[in-house]
Amino acid sequence: MITIKTPAEIEKIRQACRVVAQVLQNIEKEIKIGITTEELDRFAEDLILKCNCSPAFKGYRGYTHSTCISVNFQVVHGIPSKLKLKDGDIVSFDVGTVFEGYYGDGARTFPVGNVSGAARKLLSTTKEALKKAISQARYGKNLGDISYTIEKVAADAGFSVVKDLFGHGVGNHLHEDPLIPNFGKRGTGAKLKAGMVLAIEPMLNMGRSRVITLDDGWTVATEDRMLSAHFEDTIVVTDGDPEILTKAFSNKG
Ligand code: MF3
Ligand code: CO
Repeated sequence: MITIKTPAEIEKIRQACRVVAQVLQNIEKEIKIGITTEELDRFAEDLILKCNCSPAFKGYRGYTHSTCISVNFQVVHGIPSKLKLKDGDIVSFDVGTVFEGYYGDGARTFPVGNVSGAARKLLSTTKEALKKAISQARYGKNLGDISYTIEKVAADAGFSVVKDLFGHGVGNHLHEDPLIPNFGKRGTGAKLKAGMVLAIEPMLNMGRSRVITLDDGWTVATEDRMLSAHFEDTIVVTDGDPEILTKAFSNKG
């Protein structure tokens, strides 16, 4: 069942998501050649706690860190480690927060130093897929419109989408109904209604769609070892434009 959140619930989800946005914004400045993914995780956890939230991933199904950090051919759920970022890497950074029992979830893929033109195109296309998918998250549209849009943007640029992992409802829990595939048909699936809160998360691969789980039991990676990118926002469907809850805000007016 897809729940409709009340304005009071949405306000708490908004608070959680504001901290996700803040972490994503600040982590970008920390990402540099030589930093370890463990150091990035620690930085994010400290900021989450300082903002009166708790890390949503820590303890989730036994996961021991506050973020998932996935480098190059890793798609998602990479475990922070002593691995040092290198010039030319791409790094997918995924973070969830809880504020007074309400959840927010978001991710971005960042370049490290100078990355190839092909990698830059993968990042910009994945970002564009998210943006266009969000523009479909309107009252009266269907979930399939979101899914279709992600696959279309990817295919038009010559990339594939990951089919084994999904976007999802979020708010009262980290993962709720509905599942939101990154592929699908327009006009199919549940009708969108105001008050639905969704984590939309395109995962695009430079090569083939197939993914595998590595021996650590968490990290999902492309089978062909080609690059993968991941952008995720938590949004709320309204009776007008969708509100992007994990969007970076500026206090410069
Ligand atoms: N952020 C992931 C998602 O978007 C979930 C990570 S769960 C964890 O659905 F346990 F790996 F942290
Ligand atoms: Co998610």
